[in-house]
Amino acid sequence: MTDVAKFRPERRGRRLRRTEPIRRMFSETRLHPDMFVAPVFAVEGNGRSEEVDGMPGVSRYSVDRLPSYFERLVGAGVRSVLLFGVPGSKDERGTGAYAPDGIVPRAISSIRRSFPELVVMADVCLCEYTSHGHCGVLSGEQVDNDETLPLLSRAAVEYARAGADVVAPSAMMDGQVHAIRRALDEAGLDDTVVMGYSAKHASAFYGPFRNAAGSAPSFGDRRGYQMQPGNRREALREVEEDVKEGADIVMVKPALAYLDVISEARRRFGVPLAAYNVSGEYSMLKAAALNGWLDEKSAALEVLTAIRRAGADLIITYFAEQAAGWVKEGR
Ligand code: PBG
Repeated sequence: MTDVAKFRPERRGRRLRRTEPIRRMFSETRLHPDMFVAPVFAVEGNGRSEEVDGMPGVSRYSVDRLPSYFERLVGAGVRSVLLFGVPGSKDERGTGAYAPDGIVPRAISSIRRSFPELVVMADVCLCEYTSHGHCGVLSGEQVDNDETLPLLSRAAVEYARAGADVVAPSAMMDGQVHAIRRALDEAGLDDTVVMGYSAKHASAFYGPFRNAAGSAPSFGDRRGYQMQPGNRREALREVEEDVKEGADIVMVKPALAYLDVISEARRRFGVPLAAYNVSGEYSMLKAAALNGWLDEKSAALEVLTAIRRAGADLIITYFAEQAAGWVKEGR
């Protein structure tokens, strides 16, 4: 024992970790509320604010209740929202998605003037509005890609006219970004930003969202149009296609199980990149936190930091309000 010489390493990584001020100085990845986008569910009706099953802390609001919720978000430091609509009735062709007086255009108009500092994004898809729950119109049991494109385009134009800054097609129809860009430009809406849900995977982690939006498919699943989780090269081709079609922002979704795709998309493409930290990713962390199994704040910030580190410019997350508060108070 006594004749073992004491080894004194020259390189000591611990020097840069010793105190909080030193750690902060050498932090490679920082979070800021500007990069968070809060998903918001607007529901038909009056006086409604109801918590979503499986998503503690997330509620659906009727249009009259949105302003007070938005006050809260803005107060917390959130600067952007992504709107989803929950209509009162559904039909085969998802008419509610592109009706000029549909739930989303009404939600947008009601908040647009009172919150000029907020970036308003609107999800563009048919699944919340179709009686069968698929993301486009059916021909037999298949979702008809080309029949769906004009409907998505009409929805995008309605949302943009109502005042959305960003429209975000999430239906995974081929050519959706191109079709929407063209329709917007023809309508004189050339300033509206298009964010493509470019690499959207057929994921089990969308489960709680489908409760929130009432958008689970009534038969089959979405694997005929959403991507298989194991396909990384294909995911990057999808991102590349959206860039070519004129997407201003591209997205990888979900985020956590797809950090490698985020990181590679960041490396290959110069356009802004969003990552969607989806409902199931939120729910599993919330559930563990509520059971006392995980520390909510540090686990959530670790997850968001990892998504950022992988290369996301924007993070769409149900933690937006809480995280904006945590980040502002300086961890
Ligand atoms: C609509 C859409 C979905 C999500 C965003 N847009 C659901 C789906 O594809 O089934 C999921 C978001 C989440 O899980 O948080 N197509």
